[in-house]
Amino acid sequence: MSAALWDEDLGRRPASRLEGKVAIVTGAGSSGPGYGTGKAAAVLFAREGAAVVLFDADREAAEQTRQIIADEGGQAAVVVGDITTEDAAQAAVQAASSQFGGLHILDNNVGIVTRGDVTTTTPDDWRAILDINLLGMVNMSRFAVPEMAKGGGGSIINVSSISPRRPYSATPYSVSKGAVDTLTAAMAIDHGAQGIRVNGIAPGPLMTPRAAARQTEEQRALRRKSSPLGIEGSGFDIAWAAVYLASDEARYVTGAVLTVDGGVSVQGHRYR
Ligand SMILES: NC(=O)c1ccc[n+]([C@@H]2O[C@H](COP(=O)([O-])OP(=O)(O)OC[C@H]3O[C@@H](n4cnc5c(N)ncnc54)[C@H](O)[C@@H]3O)[C@@H](O)[C@H]2O)c1
Repeated sequence: MSAALWDEDLGRRPASRLEGKVAIVTGAGSSGPGYGTGKAAAVLFAREGAAVVLFDADREAAEQTRQIIADEGGQAAVVVGDITTEDAAQAAVQAASSQFGGLHILDNNVGIVTRGDVTTTTPDDWRAILDINLLGMVNMSRFAVPEMAKGGGGSIINVSSISPRRPYSATPYSVSKGAVDTLTAAMAIDHGAQGIRVNGIAPGPLMTPRAAARQTEEQRALRRKSSPLGIEGSGFDIAWAAVYLASDEARYVTGAVLTVDGGVSVQGHRYR
């Protein structure tokens, strides 16, 4: 008998929100001490019961995340590679299926930032950022979708930014993330019938290790002022949103881009 849509089980919280699921997180390391969005997501996914493939170009960074998860009794495996290469994407999906028995979650987290406008960005720089920020997600999804479909479905999360709506002085980045949001909507339609939900997260300014290395105290104060809450975001704020979108709690959520920005995009002030 199929469950009614008011079945009480739909409102019951499982002991672990991702129990029995297998995830790939791209950029699961961090570009310095602390937690970026990918490392935070990998650690929270494991705490919520998922087995996690930690995919990163930097072995040492991914190993640090694996150690944190292992110390907490979680399950994780490292795959080293670049999200833009077919072999590496295939290796990550293969690791999920051979080591953990399938694939349910892909957190397409890697993204790079370049500053500039159309007069200062060279065609090669445009190609490089679109290659990583857009085509990297396409490449990972290309191999992840068939594996998820085999198991009856899954959840893909494309990490975007509020920058398509607030495109300040980083035109190639903003354009690449705008394309990511369109990719999210198109993939949600293309793969819904396979049971695959595809959503995005649009973070506001975060104090991740990458940002910490660049921001002055003055810039950080400006960032805080740009939020009605008066605070900066962290990698964990994005990771909790990813846990929700990855879990069955979000069974009716697809094609959405969840803004996690402390209200920056609804307030007028610039943050740079
Ligand atoms: N930090 C922010 O303020 C902020 C704001 C909005 C959106 N975002 C988005 O969040 C995501 C993560 O940002 P972050 O600052 O946490 O990341 P990060 O710079 O800490 O990088 C995370 C990891 O990605 C790996 N990586 C980079 N390029 C790779 C590639 N081609 N293949 C495989 N691994 C690669 C790095 O080795 C690193 O370990 C990005 O998509 C970014 O656009 C960040």
